[in-house]
Amino acid sequence: MNKLKLTTRLNIKVVCVVCIFMLVVILHNQWVSLNERKAQYSKDLIDITEFISKKIDDRTFAEIAVIQGSRAESEQDKALLINQKMQPILDDVFISADNIKFGVYLRQTGRIVAIGPTLDGSLLIPMDSKAIQDTYSSDTTLLTEKERSITWYGAKIMYHLRPIKVHGEIVGHVFACVNLDKTYQGAWRKTLNMLFIALIGLIIVIIFFQDIFIRLKKDLELFAREIVKGDAKNFASELPELTPVLQYINEQTEKMMRLDRLNIIGEMAASIGHEVRNPMTTVRGFLQYIGGKEKFAQYKAHFDLMIEEMDRANGIITEFLSLAKNKSMDFQESNLNDLIREIQPLIMADALRNNCQVEVNCGSIKTVLLDKNSMRQLLLNVVRNAIEAMPEGGIITISTETFQDKALLMIRDEGIGIPADVLDKLGTPFFTTKEKGTGLGLAVCYRIVERHNANLSIESTEGTGTTFKILFNYV
Ligand SMILES: Nc1ncnc2c1ncn2[C@@H]1O[C@H](COP(=O)(O)OP(=O)(O)OP(=O)(O)O)[C@@H](O)[C@H]1O
Ligand SMILES: [Mg+2]
Repeated sequence: MNKLKLTTRLNIKVVCVVCIFMLVVILHNQWVSLNERKAQYSKDLIDITEFISKKIDDRTFAEIAVIQGSRAESEQDKALLINQKMQPILDDVFISADNIKFGVYLRQTGRIVAIGPTLDGSLLIPMDSKAIQDTYSSDTTLLTEKERSITWYGAKIMYHLRPIKVHGEIVGHVFACVNLDKTYQGAWRKTLNMLFIALIGLIIVIIFFQDIFIRLKKDLELFAREIVKGDAKNFASELPELTPVLQYINEQTEKMMRLDRLNIIGEMAASIGHEVRNPMTTVRGFLQYIGGKEKFAQYKAHFDLMIEEMDRANGIITEFLSLAKNKSMDFQESNLNDLIREIQPLIMADALRNNCQVEVNCGSIKTVLLDKNSMRQLLLNVVRNAIEAMPEGGIITISTETFQDKALLMIRDEGIGIPADVLDKLGTPFFTTKEKGTGLGLAVCYRIVERHNANLSIESTEGTGTTFKILFNYV
């Protein structure tokens, strides 16, 4: 058997929990309302017996006594005559529900002599019970329940019994009873109706949520595929509320991927960088030595070119080495503004040679932990890129300010800008769009930023320029 999918299992669990919760709530409510109804019934029953007992006066009993004393009538006929006296008294009783009956029982006849709300001759029958006798002997009213009643033809009832006294002697009692079976059936029907309505509501909610679940699942699957392809930057979810979360996930994933690439390259750099540089130093030394000899004077230009190329290769390796993961750093509390001012002449000279100007706006910032050497390298790399992005010249603005309780360093140029597809790849070692570029400048910058626990973001508009923003945490 196929294993159920996680979402299906989740759906089943949610539906079960909601069903159980609904069942408990509905049953509890019904239980409470049933008890309230029973409390109301007991009050009604007490009111009815009180009303009837007040209406039966001594005169009625005097007339009844005459009937009972008659020798001519049979017991059955006497009962009918007494009923004719009693029954009109019950006609005035008002009842709120059709499951209530009431009547009068006479001790001397040992039977029910009147029954309401409508006269039912089959109930004018002789009866006696221990409960009746106990109530008479204790001279109290009685409110209780009975499993099999005569008045409701075997149904369970709740009844109230009130003794009637004439000249201080108990001559019978008034009773009122409510059919509990009918009440329970009514409550049960109502519960079933409510459960049915709740179930329909739940099905509608499930269909609605199922739709959202399916869309969510589809979106997440699509998003995962786009992330694997490295194309999730502009992913727009069908559920707009999700877009910021997915964008955040994408940013973090990109950061992690960039770091991962840096780590691999860094490890390579550490292991092979030195091995390559050592033989190169030897070769460069010999080139210099041989190139300086008299008999090779005619090849001097060639030797110089070879040495120059050796130096260029060495420069690349030096930069490559700074990607090494565990390159030692010397962090000191320093002010970024001081560092910028220190390096400003160097930057200016480079810029001027390329027809560019440098503006420095140092804002008010506090000290941060910096490794000065690598920070210099970062500044030079970013400024070099800015210069290279402005072949016609332009202004490079370096500024600092406090932003969200962090030190913000910004380097802005008025260059060609970076297309979106290039922007995504920035920081990838050896990614370059330049003919003579190595593609290591920004990879090194990202590594330096990461080591400073800072955050680098790039904003760029094609044809307008690019801004590099680096946020440093304060000490
Ligand atoms: N300020 C900028 N304006 C426009 N494009 C830029 C800017 N900075 C970087 N780039 C783009 O990013 C790419 C990568 O830059 P990076 O500094 O890593 O390498 P590079 O400059 O090509 O080579 P190098 O290793 O010599 O620095 C560049 O080739 C360029 O396309
Ligand atoms: Mg560069």
